[in-house]
Amino acid sequence: MDKILVLDFGGQYNMLIARRVRAMNVYAEIKPYNKITPEEIKAAGYKGVIFTGGPNSVYDESSPHYSKEILNLGIPILGICYGHQLLTHISGGKIEPAKSGSEYGKTELFVAKNILFEGVPENSICYMSHTDYVSRLPDGFKVIAYTNNCPCAAMADDEKSFYGVQFHPEVTHTEYGNRMLENFVLGVCKCDRNWIMSDFVTQTTEKYKKELAGKKVLLALSGGVDSSVAAVLLHKAIGQSLYCVFVDHGLLRQDEGDYVENTLGKKLGVNLIRVNAESEFLSRLKGVTSPEAKRKIIGEEFIRVFEREAKKLGKIDVLAQGTIYPDVIESGKGDSAVIKSHHNVGGLPEVMSFESIAEPLRDLFKDEVREVGEKLGIPKELVRRQPFPGPGLAVRVTGEITKEKLELLRKADAIFREELEKTQSKPSQYFAVLLDTKSVGVMGDGRTYGYTVALRAVDTDDFMTAGWSRLGYGVLEKASNRITNEVNGITRVVYDITSKPPATVEWE
Ligand code: XMP
Repeated sequence: MDKILVLDFGGQYNMLIARRVRAMNVYAEIKPYNKITPEEIKAAGYKGVIFTGGPNSVYDESSPHYSKEILNLGIPILGICYGHQLLTHISGGKIEPAKSGSEYGKTELFVAKNILFEGVPENSICYMSHTDYVSRLPDGFKVIAYTNNCPCAAMADDEKSFYGVQFHPEVTHTEYGNRMLENFVLGVCKCDRNWIMSDFVTQTTEKYKKELAGKKVLLALSGGVDSSVAAVLLHKAIGQSLYCVFVDHGLLRQDEGDYVENTLGKKLGVNLIRVNAESEFLSRLKGVTSPEAKRKIIGEEFIRVFEREAKKLGKIDVLAQGTIYPDVIESGKGDSAVIKSHHNVGGLPEVMSFESIAEPLRDLFKDEVREVGEKLGIPKELVRRQPFPGPGLAVRVTGEITKEKLELLRKADAIFREELEKTQSKPSQYFAVLLDTKSVGVMGDGRTYGYTVALRAVDTDDFMTAGWSRLGYGVLEKASNRITNEVNGITRVVYDITSKPPATVEWE
């Protein structure tokens, strides 16, 4: 299979570049620049290399560099932003801080005739974000595009198939960016479009049929997209030798546990063991109010219950996990601060011993996982569902978690989701949160004193940042009326209009 390497120099858009390439049905992998040598690139048989952007200047001592050796491999290179400057630098050209200052945002681009710009009009819009610029081209290169502030917005050495662009073709603000990437991947690198999800399903099933023959495999099923798709894929390969343990911690949404059990277990035939552990989780959470403490307890308890159930199954050979590509990529960036301790079932192998681990989705992006899920016949509503945190409703009940509060939240949340799903708006994530504060209300002639629910809806591409959704008043009013009328114990509804940052998507 033809593949492209995205060599990561710490840019924000490394995943986006790989996803754009994969959307052309060409396989792309991301590797941090300091984790792969030119010899390894050659040996792996990549048909092209894309240098990503990065936050640095090539002249900073600490900035990421790469060996000139890469220029001698005979493999086409496309440098983007910092990658363009790095390509210039290692090829013997010169970079300088732009005299006119930084160029940032949508910019008019003028291109010359070149294979990289096939089908791109002479004049279009590109997205720029740079301070340095190429002030002297390396030998063998020519300028193939400019902007009013940047004399070398793109360069080419057609003989060697080396290209550099100062702008970002991977972001949608660059009108013909996709076309340029296609020109590089398909035109210059001559990749075949053979990364196809239905082939992936067939090949992966065959692979695991052989590898896991005669083995007993265990999978922790959360009911989320990744573990569900992994479960169905492995079920197709090894049938009843796959045991899926679904720990229902009692913190799921309305009817969710039954839905998962019915869809995966009854309809799709996955060997599913549902463990109802609500009372165990709730008793461990009794009196706990700190968000981090709740998360830690749930993570630990999850492992405890899972281990106990796994033991009942006797000797297990292989642990299967729904790890996906973004979980695997080691980025070149430094450690970021821990805002929340995320709970995922991925931490399990540390506490249990297995012969090996099977991760059938570890090469896939989320949208590819969804496509595979659909190819496997998993219903759209499961495969396309919005994200749901591992600790479940525990992070949507502020203060102490009680069964009563969870019940109120489940009802309010189901109403809000139902009303929103009737409208045209499609936020990336939407849910209700039950606040610890009570407030006074009036119903009929009487005074009420009940909980407040906050409705939350956000729009985002990556969940790293998010904006609050501008929902219509109609849907907010309908949800508010229904919640206060139908959920006895909730007397007030508010709408959260905070973006991330400064807030986070979840309340805890
Ligand atoms: P925050 O609240 O950090 O959420 O802005 C960003 C996205 O992550 C989801 N989320 C989690 N997902 N385990 C998960 O698998 C977790 O512990 C967890 N906490 C938050 C959240 O729903 C949102 O989509």
